[in-house]
Amino acid sequence: MEPIIATQDLEKVYRIGRVSIPALRGVSLTVEEGEFVAVMGPSGCGKSTLLHVLGGLTRPTSGKVLVDGNDLFALSDAERTRFRRHKIGFVFQRFNLLPTLTARDNILLAQHIQGDGCNPHRFETVTNMLGIADKLAQRPNELSGGEQQRVAIARAAICEPKILMADEPTGNLDSESSAVVLNMMRSVNQEFRQTILMITHNPEAAAVADRIIEMRDGQIISK
Ligand SMILES: Nc1ncnc2c1ncn2[C@@H]1O[C@H](COP(=O)(O)OP(=O)(O)OP(=O)(O)O)[C@@H](O)[C@H]1O
Ligand SMILES: [Mg+2]
Repeated sequence: MEPIIATQDLEKVYRIGRVSIPALRGVSLTVEEGEFVAVMGPSGCGKSTLLHVLGGLTRPTSGKVLVDGNDLFALSDAERTRFRRHKIGFVFQRFNLLPTLTARDNILLAQHIQGDGCNPHRFETVTNMLGIADKLAQRPNELSGGEQQRVAIARAAICEPKILMADEPTGNLDSESSAVVLNMMRSVNQEFRQTILMITHNPEAAAVADRIIEMRDGQIISK
């Protein structure tokens, strides 16, 4: 079976004025369908950049990204956006919740954007699992950091995307809430065969994964 994510010699150089910042320096990797992969490495080594490129959010400077057999950056912007919405749920490092919407509407927005293909019963299951069922009427600035994080996770998971990409999903959580989030990821991974790519600094979180990719200075040093 072909891998669900494949890339070779991926490079990303950010440019700010005359300064070039090489964030990815020749990254090659494949992820099989149904795998749960953790990405670890020191701050600034390129983890978020890698996830954003693999998720079709940031265009690489060179190299192709194949997701489920599709060459992501050969698609038009509109096609890539549509593809992404249907296949990939994304939890950002800085949650990206809409400040004027309640938690409920932030989560439902994902269903709204994707249209059909979402399971309406899943809303209750996911929000209960994440322990935010009683927070749904509150806006992001009325929620704690950890609660906002769980709303962002619910939003990403609500439509059963084939791939879930999460940037430090337990970064703001205490150990009990971290365990809840990790259990949820493990169970969607096992029950629905969703592929998971998760950035983490937390060894306990990484221990839940099938495999750990270690990065340093824009490169993979072990995978
Ligand atoms: N939009 C951007 N413009 C310019 N440089 C950027 C941009 N985003 C990231 N960088 C730089 O690229 C490098 C990799 O950043 P990235 O955010 O991928 O690191 P990270 O591994 O996710 O770090 P952290 O663990 O702190 O989140 C860093 O040197 C960072 O300063
Ligand atoms: Mg990051």
